[in-house]
Amino acid sequence: MSTNMQTNSALAEDPHLRRGPRGYPLLPGGYGRSTYYTGAPSPYAVRGQGCRVWDDRGRELIDANNNFTSLIHGNAHPEIAEAAVKALSSGASWGIPNLHEWELADLLLSRLPDLDQVRFANSGTEAVMSAVRIARASTGRDRVIVTKGGYHGTSDVALAPGGPANARGVPRGVIDDVTPVPLNDVEFLRRSVEAAPGAYAAIILDLLPNRAGLLHISEEFVTTARDLATRHGIVLIIDEVISLRLGAHGLSGEYGVSPDLLTTGKTIGGGFAVGAIAGLGELMSEVDPTRPGSLPHGGTFSGNPVSMAAGAVALRLYDESEVKRLNALGDAARESVAGRVADAGWEVRGRGSLLRAVPAGSAQVDASTQHRLWWESYNRGLLGSPANLLSLSTPMDQVVADEIADRLADAVLAVADAQN
Ligand SMILES: Cc1ncc(COP(=O)(O)O)c(C=O)c1O
Repeated sequence: MSTNMQTNSALAEDPHLRRGPRGYPLLPGGYGRSTYYTGAPSPYAVRGQGCRVWDDRGRELIDANNNFTSLIHGNAHPEIAEAAVKALSSGASWGIPNLHEWELADLLLSRLPDLDQVRFANSGTEAVMSAVRIARASTGRDRVIVTKGGYHGTSDVALAPGGPANARGVPRGVIDDVTPVPLNDVEFLRRSVEAAPGAYAAIILDLLPNRAGLLHISEEFVTTARDLATRHGIVLIIDEVISLRLGAHGLSGEYGVSPDLLTTGKTIGGGFAVGAIAGLGELMSEVDPTRPGSLPHGGTFSGNPVSMAAGAVALRLYDESEVKRLNALGDAARESVAGRVADAGWEVRGRGSLLRAVPAGSAQVDASTQHRLWWESYNRGLLGSPANLLSLSTPMDQVVADEIADRLADAVLAVADAQN
């Protein structure tokens, strides 16, 4: 693996090596986000256009990372760029409301016909954090159920179920308030709720949890969660930060399940920082400032006109036919790769425009295998996430999807070869 990481002379000027007077790299570990980490010094993005990214090592890559699935229209989409520049040239953000918030709220809620209101945030992390607070305030309860191995951002509650390494720094009390339920274990879910029915404020579900291996949540698990929530006055939060892209009404629409609160982000910002909590009016009114005793909700940049204007164009362009087209491309790519890697002991998971290759049957893939596959993909001109989640974007067509499938299959076979 080390060959391609160290050979380029560009590394001589790698900002990883830039250190302050006391010897520390200016960015911890050399990274501005821990989630960039792929086991070795990373290439730097220099430019992106459509479904391609060019890096500082001179490599052209098919961008199937899409900034962790958020670039649904790829890089520098002309209409999104135009909307963002237009908004920015009238002022980056203001301390009074702007009309772009209403436009994006309208577009988002038109996709979520069972929900009434929306509040914007700056990230999925913030959206989930606020949704949990709304659930706790409205129920007067503290405890929260999440599925084991899932990821809901980096708030205390979201990190609590991740095991001792993930939850370092999270107060004991928060950890004690979170019940992790094994994925698709209907009985465990039922028992957890029924053992303490008045204790739970929320059940949080991601219907296709990437960190848990991009495994599907069963219909039975989802309907049980919905039913338990309704019967016991628990708020069902469906976290669609990634999965909203998978259906015209999000993945919850595909499942035919209505959350009480839905959190999202990524795709709805056109590539800019965004998060959103959409929900039933009776819950969302917890943050209605005209009501005495309402919950504080702010964020200096929440609802900023640039993210809102770019997001509105992104949602308009990602209409039902594009959702279907991208999902069909993804379905075909998954099938094509699966057929080529099965004998090597790998499988391809996902749904619609999301795919991920993993050793067959694995729940959590070890970091060194993930990193090895990332570099093997990179060496073949394919950029995925460090966990090898690949997402399609609308500039992609059949030719690009075939190219992704070819490169991914080759990369998987190289990893499997090296491991045997
Ligand atoms: C399901 C889910 N929830 C929440 C988050 C956090 O979103 P953000 O990275 O925008 O804070 C993510 C991020 O990948 C996610 O996948």
